[in-house]
Amino acid sequence: MFSREEIETIEAAIQREETPRSVSIAAMRFIQKQRGYVSDQSLADLAPMLGMSVSGLESVATFYSLIFRKPVGRHVILVCDSVSCWILGRERPLDHLRRRLGVDLGQTTADDLFTLLAIPCLGACDRAPAMLIDETLYGPLTPESIDEILSSYRELDR
Ligand code: FES
Repeated sequence: MFSREEIETIEAAIQREETPRSVSIAAMRFIQKQRGYVSDQSLADLAPMLGMSVSGLESVATFYSLIFRKPVGRHVILVCDSVSCWILGRERPLDHLRRRLGVDLGQTTADDLFTLLAIPCLGACDRAPAMLIDETLYGPLTPESIDEILSSYRELDR
């Protein structure tokens, strides 16, 4: 069940956006910002507001990799999984990330601080191998730069 504020924001997006798909993405991103992820219940509550079926909305959420359908950590690390990053050595920094965080792709650290996910091209091939943490882009990545980046987030969250 959405709060009054959430309903008002979603209704404002419906007025503003041009297509059902763009409204659905904006609405799910808003819900995610409020609640951390888009649960099955949120999807079921949102679909009738947008005049969509739950399965139609689910397919948009599945296609759009920045919509999280399960709980995630406080910071989401999106590691590019596309060709430029592969060619420029994505595996080495990714292995380092896995070791430092103690998780594999698709998992969240035990302290709930980071979730590690793969994503198609970030549009930053000139900075390959690249990753995005929340809304900040990093690259070209090295094991050393990853240590610095993770430390800065751990400092922030103390
Ligand atoms: S291929 Fe990694 S940012 Fe484009």
